[in-house]
Amino acid sequence: MSEIITIANQKGGVGKTTTAVNLAASLAVAEKKVLLIDADPQANATTHYGFHRNDYEYNIYHALTGIKKLSDVVLQTSVANLDIVPSNIGLVGVEKEFYDKDVESRELVLKKQIKTIQSKYDYIIIDSPPALGLITINALGASNSVIIPIQCEFFALEGLAQLLNTIKLIKKTINPKLNIKGFLPTMYSSANNLSKQVYADLMQHFKNKLFTLKEDAISEEDFIYIPRNVKLAESPSFGKPVIMYDVKSIGSIAYQNLAGAIVGARVG
Ligand SMILES: Nc1ncnc2c1ncn2[C@@H]1O[C@H](COP(=O)(O)OP(=O)(O)O)[C@@H](O)[C@H]1O
Ligand SMILES: [Mg+2]
Repeated sequence: MSEIITIANQKGGVGKTTTAVNLAASLAVAEKKVLLIDADPQANATTHYGFHRNDYEYNIYHALTGIKKLSDVVLQTSVANLDIVPSNIGLVGVEKEFYDKDVESRELVLKKQIKTIQSKYDYIIIDSPPALGLITINALGASNSVIIPIQCEFFALEGLAQLLNTIKLIKKTINPKLNIKGFLPTMYSSANNLSKQVYADLMQHFKNKLFTLKEDAISEEDFIYIPRNVKLAESPSFGKPVIMYDVKSIGSIAYQNLAGAIVGARVG
């Protein structure tokens, strides 16, 4: 059985794409069969893997609108065991095309498409756009769980209540099995007091939803966060996940640890 995980937070710039790209790569390097679905019209996950507009004819838009089957838009990445469904700015038009469908079917288009290829993969990771619109609802409707990156900066928890409400609503309506897999503190900097404060708040309120390095995590070092690391910011311009760019960097190690926690189902 494959596990489908959406990376969601309606705020932009919190580390969704970085998490989707590098978690997917780390799972693939750990010999899991992985599909990364880029469901953001900005297509940052697609370019992070070195694909440019002219490299592929079809993208997720064509699968969501029924022009192509999802299996027809899958591309192989440079990482063994890792495929990607690319995106494109044209995806912004998809919500408009859904309006003539009834609610159930317009919110479950992606789920139906994923069902056709699900058995080929151990993990399907979905990168979502910075909005709580129909695309994100489709991603959450198709998923077993959601990972919420929380940027360790000012206003970190702003908007979180709205996201949690959306998840609750989706659970009540189209996807009862959806659960919150965990919160992931991102861009943590130990030199920054604010960063430390946000992390301390997360530890206090959501400790049981933070990923851990080992079973029975107790001390702060047993919990997983993603540090601010320049290698994570540089690797997209080389068209590679960080594990192929600088495997020993602290950013790479953090995402490998996250993959380990997910394979071992470890949260606090
Ligand atoms: N841990 C990190 N350390 C340094 N830079 C990061 C880190 N995580 C993300 N970034 C950078 O921050 C920016 C926003 O991250 P991104 O993953 O694109 O966020 P989102 O998908 O939520 O909009 C990108 O330029 C990315 O390279
Ligand atoms: Mg993004």
